[in-house]
Amino acid sequence: MMEGAAKRAADPAQEQGGRMKAELGGVVVLDFGGQYTQLIARRIREQQVFSAVLPCSSSIEEIRKLEPAGIVLSGGPSSVYDAEAPKCDPKVLALGIPVLGICYGMQWITHTLGGKVEKAERREYGRAQLNLEDSTKGDVGSELFTGIPASLRVWNSHGDHVRALPEGFRTIAHTENAIAAVEDAKRKIYAVEFHPEVNHTERGTELLRNFLFQVCKAEPKWSGAAFIKETTAAIREKVGNRRAICALSGGVDSTVAAVLVHRAMGDRLTNIFVNTGMLRKNEFANTLEMLRDRLKLRVIGLDASERFLDKLKGVTDPEQKRKIIGREFIAVFAEEAQKLHGGKEHGEIGYLVQGTLYPDVIESVSVKGPSATIKSHHNVGGLPEKMPFALIEPLRDLFKDEVRRIGRELGLPREILAKHPFPGPGLAVRLLGEITRPHLVTLQDADAIVVEEIRRAGLYEKVWQAFAVLLPVRSVGVMGDGRTYGLTVAVRVVESDDAMTADWVRLPGEVLERISTRIVNEVRGVTRVVYDISSKPPSTIEWE
Ligand code: XMP
Repeated sequence: MMEGAAKRAADPAQEQGGRMKAELGGVVVLDFGGQYTQLIARRIREQQVFSAVLPCSSSIEEIRKLEPAGIVLSGGPSSVYDAEAPKCDPKVLALGIPVLGICYGMQWITHTLGGKVEKAERREYGRAQLNLEDSTKGDVGSELFTGIPASLRVWNSHGDHVRALPEGFRTIAHTENAIAAVEDAKRKIYAVEFHPEVNHTERGTELLRNFLFQVCKAEPKWSGAAFIKETTAAIREKVGNRRAICALSGGVDSTVAAVLVHRAMGDRLTNIFVNTGMLRKNEFANTLEMLRDRLKLRVIGLDASERFLDKLKGVTDPEQKRKIIGREFIAVFAEEAQKLHGGKEHGEIGYLVQGTLYPDVIESVSVKGPSATIKSHHNVGGLPEKMPFALIEPLRDLFKDEVRRIGRELGLPREILAKHPFPGPGLAVRLLGEITRPHLVTLQDADAIVVEEIRRAGLYEKVWQAFAVLLPVRSVGVMGDGRTYGLTVAVRVVESDDAMTADWVRLPGEVLERISTRIVNEVRGVTRVVYDISSKPPSTIEWE
């Protein structure tokens, strides 16, 4: 695992300046590796209660330090009987803080407190009918199920079943073949076998609201403004008198992060915008101007394209490209920090600010460790092992739409807030094969046409991303009376909520036609345009 990731896992609350503050009375979600873990945290924040995910292996001190109003134990793919089954410290159940176990969380609670979990032959997915106990009265007297009908459809995704309850527990609901909800109201420990956080579960939000407001007595006081206030206070406390540099790209995430940290540190923050040579057409000049003139940020613009391209010569492997770019970024920043500090070894500049978001984290390094790395996002897993900076990542618990909301609250212009995401390694992961200057120019020109036409069709703010990809595949064409043998451009336009899943956009034929005609006519060396009709999963949004 990368060092940065290891450090995070060791002390996530301390490491990430600006995380949940005790006085917000948030809810900690302990992650057992479930696919919906981050969704649980997000659903809680939608109720104006702050929530952050911590690895299940977090120590009791780390959890207690956050003074949470409640603790949720997430689902996960394991069985409690697996040799490597993830575990929490059992003291989590004796803190006097209300606990809600979901799916694996329920099985772990049962197993830990002396109940019986039965190993299943195979997992059960999909819808199930849930019935409350004693449904004739329509009220089981459980705070968790206040106002919830006696029968509803829920979403299941579990393997093992709870067979016998630990002492002090009672069954609140069941499905056809399993105990589906239990509680020990005295100890304030609740558990459900289904997933209240997914949309397919009827009244799931109400159940979560009951946990938050009836059981935990949490207060709905988390908002964009509260986040900004708490985060800036936490950053101030963390950095003291030291200075920081920020890797600013002009995208939503890094700009929101920079403005937030600027509020906390003022001029002790220096922003650095690096031209890697792999930015979109005219992006370097335009963005610099906007950051300096409109947002009044202190920004050093560094044109490092030569050295990036040099390092990438002959490299075709996607992960290699990402790693090289990540390393070079840090080298550039370390040099700049040294310059800023009159040659002293990194001077007092101890921090690097990045606009990392939750989906970046989850796909690069699992919060709990060993799950598969999909891509090394350069602002997470692509960073080199040894870094001369500690990270400040104030947005790393949030999703893109939440960051946009924070940005709006900070008064950022729409131009930035509506900007499509752009990967850290930039066009390097959209130019397949070796990266050369001429091919970069070709891709920039084609990409500019895609974006222009999507804007002209009024679709820019309706889609998640729209861009061009250059393929090192030549095909035969005919132009005028001559034969051509040129490159292929793939057009990728996707819709998504959070980049974890995405679907290709059914663009109107006229828009596709304009894009295709313009690219072939205006971009030299391209003879063919194709439209990418793959969704994520199984494909990813970027091609590399
Ligand atoms: P994929 O290709 O993994 O992309 O489906 C998901 C989202 O993340 C963006 N992306 C990145 N963002 N650094 C970033 O900051 C990266 O290295 C990176 N790689 C992909 C991608 O554009 C999409 O929105």
